[in-house]
Amino acid sequence: MFKKKLHGTKTCQLLKAAFAAECFAEHRFKIFARIAQDEGLYAIEAALNELAYSQQMHAESHFKMLQESEEVYFGFEIGNTIDNLKTALVAEGLEVNECSELIKTARDEGLEVVAERIEEISIDEMAHIHRLDSLINQII
Ligand SMILES: [Fe+2]
Ligand SMILES: [Fe+2]
Repeated sequence: MFKKKLHGTKTCQLLKAAFAAECFAEHRFKIFARIAQDEGLYAIEAALNELAYSQQMHAESHFKMLQESEEVYFGFEIGNTIDNLKTALVAEGLEVNECSELIKTARDEGLEVVAERIEEISIDEMAHIHRLDSLINQII
């Protein structure tokens, strides 16, 4: 429906920003829900998780429009599952690079606690890469 029509438009630029904002909102609500759970406020937790789900639906709607337009999002192609797994693999590699930079910067600035926490996350990112690699191999 949107094929090639979005590319280069201001709408496309705003759609990408809106997608990122919805993703941010989804995770913010999930984190708030976890805090409500820790406080024993279970009805609030449930409501916040519902709001998070709603943001997820919005993000998916935005993403689908970008996908239908064959838009390249952050330099990545969006396609079928095998394409998406390959995209995710590349993206996880970038996360590892970002972690390395963050660890080095945090150490340079004397923020050892930050560096150590990011090192733990970096190990997870490497595990994600191996997992995605094995998922790709299951399909091809
Ligand atoms: Fe939303
Ligand atoms: Fe990751």
